[in-house]
Amino acid sequence: MQKDSTLTETSMTVIYFTATGNSLAVAKHIAGRCISAVALLQQTGPIELSDPEGIGFVMPVYFGQIPAVITQLMRRVSLRAPYLFAVLTYGELAGRAATHMRRLGEETGIRFDYIRSIKMVDNNFTIVSVSRQVRDCGRKKIPACMDAIAGEIRARKCFVEKPGVVSRLIGIIEERMPQGSKFDSGFSVEADKCNGCGTCVRVCPNANVKLTGGHPQWQGDCLKCTACYHNCPHGAVRYRKERSRYCFRNPAVTLQEIIHANNRTR
Ligand SMILES: Cc1cc2nc3c(=O)[nH]c(=O)nc-3n(C[C@H](O)[C@H](O)[C@H](O)COP(=O)(O)O)c2cc1C
Ligand code: SF4
Ligand code: SF4
Repeated sequence: MQKDSTLTETSMTVIYFTATGNSLAVAKHIAGRCISAVALLQQTGPIELSDPEGIGFVMPVYFGQIPAVITQLMRRVSLRAPYLFAVLTYGELAGRAATHMRRLGEETGIRFDYIRSIKMVDNNFTIVSVSRQVRDCGRKKIPACMDAIAGEIRARKCFVEKPGVVSRLIGIIEERMPQGSKFDSGFSVEADKCNGCGTCVRVCPNANVKLTGGHPQWQGDCLKCTACYHNCPHGAVRYRKERSRYCFRNPAVTLQEIIHANNRTR
């Protein structure tokens, strides 16, 4: 990938899904028009988008796979654009996510010209120490990779990433791992830190958090995105197997933007 130091944003449309802002930071770096996948899914009737320049998706990788929100949207959306792309943000190993995205595109009639993954801070507190991730993220050269990807998309590059041998093997293992259908049961709240502000409710893309007696309760329909945990302004949300106590949000993204993207209580 070539670094593009004279980058300006394209006028393409980017559909994004995000919990902690990495994917929105990349989406904003690519294009001026960013649309939340969660908001699009709230529309009744057909979802149709057209852009004479191009349309793309930016999303996190979850266990080597594509988030359910994006899978659902791709099954409903109809896109008209001369250039179609996808960018997958991940923390350590993207597994076979790029291949899954290409196949999902083929299944849903979206023929991607460009799919690439980008390594960013890993927000999965059940697997990694997020505080260490943030401390060591310099090694990932994130700003340069973001510039390079945005430059390639701006140049309408055609490229579909093929995962290497390690990623393929890890991907196959990840896809067979039990993925914690009872993820909700690991959450708890530190009552002395929680002031009942309701941010955890508003950042949840699946309306899975409710306030009861001024504190959050998880409703059993979690997408495992981690938004409620990382975006609590008081660091009051805990998780049973957390590897560190650290709330991460990409510095290029505000809490208001996460709420705007995911809030389903409006
Ligand atoms: C449930 C879950 C599963 C994840 N699985 C992977 C994975 O398989 N490989 C990886 O490298 N990162 C994985 N991650 C890390 C995220 O893909 C990464 O931090 C992403 O950039 C977060 O995007 P966001 O800030 O837009 O939400 C996972 C995160 C979560 C919450
Ligand atoms: S965001 Fe944090 S402080 Fe606010 S209600 Fe939720 S847990 Fe409590
Ligand atoms: S409950 Fe928390 S982790 Fe689960 S989908 Fe909602 S915001 Fe994401």
